Amino acid sequence: MVRALHWINDSSLLRLIDQTRLPEAEVYLDITTVDALVQAIKDLAVRGAPALGAVGALGVVVAMEQGRREGWTAQRLADEVDRVRRARPTAVNLAWGVDQVWPLADQGIPAVLARAEEIVVEDEAANRRLSALGADWILARTGKQKVRVITHCNTGALATTAWGTAYGIIHELHDRGALELVYADETRPLLQGARLTSWELVQDGIPHVVEADGAASSTILRGLVDVAIIGADRIAANGDSANKVGSVALALAAARAGIPFVVAAPSSTLDLSTASGEDIEIELRDEGEVLNLGGVRTTPVEAVGFNPAFDVTPHDLISAIVTEFGVVEPDRDPEPRLLARISG
Ligand code: MRU
Repeated sequence: MVRALHWINDSSLLRLIDQTRLPEAEVYLDITTVDALVQAIKDLAVRGAPALGAVGALGVVVAMEQGRREGWTAQRLADEVDRVRRARPTAVNLAWGVDQVWPLADQGIPAVLARAEEIVVEDEAANRRLSALGADWILARTGKQKVRVITHCNTGALATTAWGTAYGIIHELHDRGALELVYADETRPLLQGARLTSWELVQDGIPHVVEADGAASSTILRGLVDVAIIGADRIAANGDSANKVGSVALALAAARAGIPFVVAAPSSTLDLSTASGEDIEIELRDEGEVLNLGGVRTTPVEAVGFNPAFDVTPHDLISAIVTEFGVVEPDRDPEPRLLARISG
């Protein structure tokens, strides 16, 4: 299985697979500085909420190693760690990963690295557990032996430390012989679904078709799928969930079609300190990503781009939120404290 990230102990560096180059080329980035790490995060060379959580934790080690080499003051180190923490605003996992290890900094690099490596291991375990729970729930709710699934963006091994979240459920359904077909949305602006999800599905031998994001709601309304399964970048305390832009279109169509809409994420994606989706900061990316295609301008020079990277699905459109600790059903049980049950 491909790994989005791993720490190379001998050379004290963070190795990332450059996700902007896949599937054409398997190129690795060896990260030894905060500048390089922040750039890799902003460029989406590493992306996906749980992967960003692990990168946040390992990023503190990168900063501490660089600080040791360059003789940084404590204040400089804290500022550089904060740059990692804020490199992208929407996925809470990035800040969560930093916050998990930064309090250990006084104990030195080995203590921080040990906790960061634990996070990597824990993420895979959480993904495998939530995948089993999610598959159980979907088969029970739909009452079907085999399901047709629609998914959006990339939530597989590349977006996590291993296995995947929404993708993990798809993989689990496939392993159980309970998967008929996956509709993988291409995902704007960097084609994470078309390039990355399709690449992973091919490697795992999972039958799928890639469709334009604009096709998704019609695919659902035409009765071509039994369940929509997506990941999340931040789930607010009331269950409102931020995910890749376009997700809410699937939720609206799923509600109209009467099929379940499932959000799958490890508990590190829950943000109980954010009351609702209105309080989630949505990353606005460079307009060039929508004004150009493959580096070529496709729009009039006068055109102005609008490029939110995420949207928020209100909790009443969500049939199930699945973490490694269980499943809640926000559309049936809008109790605001329900997420505490699946937050560990
Ligand atoms: O901009 P990206 O590619 O980082 O967006 C990723 C997503 O929206 C994923 O669905 C989400 O992070 C969950 S990944 C398991």
